Amino acid sequence: MASTSAFGLKDPSLLRHQGFINGQWVDAEDGKKFSVTNPATSEELGQVADLGLAQTKQAIEAASVAFKTWGKTTAKERHDLLMKFYHLMQEHHEDLSRLITLENGKPLKEAKGENVYSSSFLEWFAGEAVRTYGETIPSASSSLRNVVIKQPIGVVSILTPWNFPSAMITRKLGAALAAGCTAVIKPPAETPYTCLALTELATRAGIPPGVINIVPTHSNISEVGREMCENPTVKKISFTGSTPVAKLLSKYAAGTLKKMSIEAGGNAPFIIFDDADIDAAVEGAIACKFRHTGQTCVCANRIYVQSSVYADFASKLAEKVAAFRVGNGFDEQTTHGPLIHDRAVEKVQKHIDDAVSRGAQLIHGGKRLDGKGSFFAPTILCDVPKDALVCTEETFGPLAALVKFETEDEVIKLANDTSVGLAGYFYSRDIGRVWRVAEALEVGMVGTNTGAISQAVIPFGGVKESGLGREGSKYGIEEYLNIKYIAFGGL
Ligand code: SIN
Repeated sequence: MASTSAFGLKDPSLLRHQGFINGQWVDAEDGKKFSVTNPATSEELGQVADLGLAQTKQAIEAASVAFKTWGKTTAKERHDLLMKFYHLMQEHHEDLSRLITLENGKPLKEAKGENVYSSSFLEWFAGEAVRTYGETIPSASSSLRNVVIKQPIGVVSILTPWNFPSAMITRKLGAALAAGCTAVIKPPAETPYTCLALTELATRAGIPPGVINIVPTHSNISEVGREMCENPTVKKISFTGSTPVAKLLSKYAAGTLKKMSIEAGGNAPFIIFDDADIDAAVEGAIACKFRHTGQTCVCANRIYVQSSVYADFASKLAEKVAAFRVGNGFDEQTTHGPLIHDRAVEKVQKHIDDAVSRGAQLIHGGKRLDGKGSFFAPTILCDVPKDALVCTEETFGPLAALVKFETEDEVIKLANDTSVGLAGYFYSRDIGRVWRVAEALEVGMVGTNTGAISQAVIPFGGVKESGLGREGSKYGIEEYLNIKYIAFGGL
């Protein structure tokens, strides 16, 4: 296990190894801990308290008690606390970014980008807190007035993934706190340290005990997750992760009909039409496909290239990818870090082997890199058949699979031929086509002539089996509010 100093934090007290319930840092009741590994070195970073069912119930109870007062704070009070939290995230930018690189592996520059992105959710939702307007509705009766108010939904369960250890917390927690909700968070077992550091900062900002509760767990993940969805005190669930897990959690939540926000898997199409600016499309594909080494839900998964520009696009993409430097995220030369663990490596390899066995051409990369850590060579496959595994399921790794197409109609059908619909991208300079294709893609988010769409101000979310609800933007806070109608009669 690395020593505290090995984390290299300027403020070592940001390094927390325990759960957090009702304002107290706690060990697991049975003393159990789980190990957190640096994916770039395969070495243990530290051990974190492995909380179980009883402590999850305690955390929910603490959140319920805290809701009685937090839910009644003014919007301005919550705005001010969220802004303090935001400023603390900025003040501790270096340490928070360092923690992301240590436990997640992404290059430090990318981790810094995540910290900026992550804190922007707090700033955004601080602003939204004071704008949860109600409404009056013209009445059909002269003795009646109709008023609509918004109220916080209550205790929220938040379950987050490892690929954005910080931003997926603040995107949910920022909205929940702004609305007046209290939260129980289960951080991912791969990357709990960033969440725990954020909790320490939230406490320093003055967010009261019980408002944020953290239940790190590894060996008890099934029962903790189930309790967070089934417990009747919890009124809402926000989950980001895989579609199969989202379906399981939905089943648990159905017993008490909880409101759910789900951001599940994507299988994003990225289309290059023959009228596109090919150099721009290559840049966009690099940014979109290889962001965090391909480990984002909105990464391009299927790259469709029109036949007349196929060779040009493929060779320019290969030239750029050849310049990548894969390595430890703390090495300044590194452009791309490791995958999170060996299971992720195996999945990428499986998709490559499958496509090659069906006739795809391996142009670049194609295998795990030697040495410690879960590193995989950035890979390009050409002439990928439309029914290859990489076209039907999300790879979540550095594999650019190029598929040739002929017509607009054909590619729209291919793009939509999937059960999920999170993001979709295309490059074209024909304004008519831009509208047609943007409207035709069955996704929640479209990037036209850009491979980068993520911001706090946009409604992030998908259609089909990619999820329910939206995060970020003016819509994000609504997920944490109940609408109440009040009739004022007897006038
Ligand atoms: C995700 O991968 O789930 C989130 C990516 C983003 O916010 O851009």
